[in-house]
Order: sequence, then structure tokens, then C-alpha cells
Amino acid sequence: MTRGMPEMKTVGILLSGRGSNMMALVQSGVPVGLVASDKPDAAGLAWARDHGLKTFALSPKGIGKAAYEAKVDAALREAGCEIVALAGYMRLLSDDFVTRWRDRIINIHPSLLPKYKGLDTHARAIAAGDPVAGCSVHIVTEELDAGALLGQAEVPILPGDTPDELAARVLVAEHRLYPQVLKEFASR
Ligand code: GRF
Repeated sequence: MTRGMPEMKTVGILLSGRGSNMMALVQSGVPVGLVASDKPDAAGLAWARDHGLKTFALSPKGIGKAAYEAKVDAALREAGCEIVALAGYMRLLSDDFVTRWRDRIINIHPSLLPKYKGLDTHARAIAAGDPVAGCSVHIVTEELDAGALLGQAEVPILPGDTPDELAARVLVAEHRLYPQVLKEFASR
């Protein structure tokens, strides 16, 4: 008898921008059923399309959040997605959406949570004089960047670092950490 790869759940990825974390996830071999975006012109969406992935693009503008999320939810289910990975998705999911996907949505955040929830994490870490920064993968709950931690990676903050320089260093760590954690999460 041959033993194959452990069975992994199909992942739907939500993004709003360049999608470098989505690329890392796709390239790691996690089964991706759908890449969806609230920004029809997101660079990450074009990359996904060019790489033969199923994509879904819809702006909530004009139709409202509830109708928008209902369509995203339907697209994810139709594509057979069982878990959702946020990868630079710049909208807050509603409580209703989180409830429907309870404990099945994960996110990567560019700080060592619980420090620096929200935006401008790198500038805040530098201003605080922290010696290290990093990234965290966590379960998404109704509260912003507050769900259970699944993994973290640290990088040093170097003297004279600008927020952009630090962000670039953290991003390299994100591209290693996120696939590693998602693979484990998708195999549960
Ligand atoms: C990453 O830094 C991620 O941690 C944060 O948004 C950024 C997205 O970058 N949530 P990319 O679109 O994956 O390149």
C-alpha cells in the first residue's frame, strides 16, 4: 500500500491587493479552490487568473455588505472551499460571515500579536523601540486580529530601519510561516 500526501481541505483565499501571500500559499501546494477579491483590479487576482485558478471578483460598492458577503459565501461553497485564508484582505468580515465559517477562517497579520492589532504595525513597532517584530497567523473571530494564534515568526528590528524596510523583512517571514501553518490547518 502506498501512503500519499495527507488529505488537505480545499482553501478559498480572500485578498484585496498584490497577493504575495496568496502566491506563497498557491506555490506551497495547498489545494486552492477559489481566489476572491473585493477589488476587481487587484494585482493578486490577475496573477491567480493567469495561473489557472478559479477567481471571483466583486466590489461591495453599490450592493452593500450583506449582499456582497452572501455572494462571496456562495462562490466559496460552489468552489468546494472548506476553509478560508485571508491574505491581505482589507475588509472586516461581518459577524454573520464569521459565524457561518466559525473556526474555519484564518488570517496573517504583520505583527507579533497581541501587539499592534490593526494598521501601521511596522511604524508602531519601530516607534516603540521593540528589538523584534514579526508576523502571526490566527483564527478569525468577530474581534479584529484577536482570535487564537496558530503560529508566529520573529525577525529583528535593525537600527535605522524604516517601516518599509521592516515590512520587507517581515514579508519574507510571512511567506514561510503562512504556508506552513495553513498546510497544518488544512490537514486537521
Ligand atoms: C501582508 O503584510 C499581510 O500580513 C497583511 O497584508 C499584507 C498583504 O500583502 N495582512 P500581500 O497582498 O499578501 O502581498
